[in-house]
Amino acid sequence: MKKPSIIFRCTACGHEEPKWLGRCPECGQWNTLVETKTLGRFEKDNTAFPVPLESVDPALGTRVLSGISELDRVLGGGFMRGSAVLLGGEPGIGKSTLLLQTCARLQAKGKALYISGEESAAQIRMRAERTGTLAKHVEVFCSNDVHACLSVMDSVHPVITVVDSIQTVHAPEAGMVPGTPNQVKFCTQELVEWAKSHDSIVVLVAHVTKDGLIAGPKAAEHLVDAVLSIEQAEQALRVVRASKNRFGSAEELGFFIMGAKGLAELPDPSGIFTVRREGELPAGIAIAIMHEGSRILPAEVQALAIPSKSGVMRVYSDRIDPLRVSRVAAVLEKQTRLDFSSQELYVNVAGGLRLTEPAVDLPLACALYSARTGHPLPKDAALAGELSLAGEVRPVRSMERRARAAQQLGFGRVVGPAAVLPGEETGGSSAAMKAARVSTGVITWTVALTLKDTIRILWSHERREGGLK
Ligand code: TYD
Ligand code: MG
Repeated sequence: MKKPSIIFRCTACGHEEPKWLGRCPECGQWNTLVETKTLGRFEKDNTAFPVPLESVDPALGTRVLSGISELDRVLGGGFMRGSAVLLGGEPGIGKSTLLLQTCARLQAKGKALYISGEESAAQIRMRAERTGTLAKHVEVFCSNDVHACLSVMDSVHPVITVVDSIQTVHAPEAGMVPGTPNQVKFCTQELVEWAKSHDSIVVLVAHVTKDGLIAGPKAAEHLVDAVLSIEQAEQALRVVRASKNRFGSAEELGFFIMGAKGLAELPDPSGIFTVRREGELPAGIAIAIMHEGSRILPAEVQALAIPSKSGVMRVYSDRIDPLRVSRVAAVLEKQTRLDFSSQELYVNVAGGLRLTEPAVDLPLACALYSARTGHPLPKDAALAGELSLAGEVRPVRSMERRARAAQQLGFGRVVGPAAVLPGEETGGSSAAMKAARVSTGVITWTVALTLKDTIRILWSHERREGGLK
């Protein structure tokens, strides 16, 4: 398994060849290929030696719980042994804190190695004291040299290694400057290979710029098994999500509160993204009943429409994709003949949660409609549904679970699509669901087939009172 293989690596660009060549085919330099030993690279890739599937040891690649269930949830049930995870986030968001807490709480026998290229061992100790996570099995190593890191990893043989950050480690063979894409790629590759060949876990920290791009190490995303990011919702609220996960869903969210003692888990965030109000809702507000990962969450979508000074539509929305807002506004304009194209549209989500699920279309449309007409939605209604360009309400996953959750959260009715997605559990009530109106006594599930339908259902009382033309 761990028999070393020989490869030839270009000292100028890091390119690898299975045999020696006088000239690097990648960068064109002469005499730059040198013999390098790499542990189990070809065996592990299974490209050179296939093995009967039956003879593969299923214990390889088992999970290790981080001891932080919100993180385990996002990972799909803990870290996978022999895997590499990239954790991105803006500076100061809490990456180092989260990973130090993870090292301390890891549910496995063995060492945790925390490599820092940014902070001193004393600083890391102070953080451990502050967060109450000083633990005997955690070792620190401060270095910027990837080869030094690898040899420490060889001798410590940790269950988990955190490299904070991938932009600060470098290898002399990949150029002079740390943090270049080439450096990041080279170092990531070395560390990922180490994790794979030692059935160990490597977590790489990546600094992300304001616009959400992992600065430089975009290439690293392809080399790791999971890409997580930590982002700030409102003030102390932190959301961890996966944009790639080879061993689980990429839809789960983990919620934390940054406090005086580090990151505390928030297993039930359902009250965070709505606002408690006495009396009626103001115009421009709709409650979305979202299904983020395995959790059903109510979220308040807020919209404001004012005449645009330039006469053309402008969208300001950082919690819902602005392209989605423009598209929904266009459908709304087409279906209702209300003018949106000369408006400035502001969209927000209470609590600062970023909503990416297509089911946000319908609540977003209703919030925009309400903002534009000045007529509020009924307070007890929660909505979900995707919108087609033709203005139809399309099915979204687990509509029934959403309705049940909305009921538990105290909503009187749910408005959304009836049909379930193919292959989805219906809980035996599909016949009832096909009926236009299902009343369970506590919650009324009103099926809307189109956006026009939805508007009619939600605002019919106003119409009776002559509120809408
Ligand atoms: P840090 O984990 O260093 O962020 P990153 O590694 O992503 O740059 O967290 C830094 C911020 O978190 C800093 O502003 C201080 C704050 N913090 C707390 O509020 N409580 C704590 O217990 C800790 C350790 C940090
Ligand atoms: Mg840090």
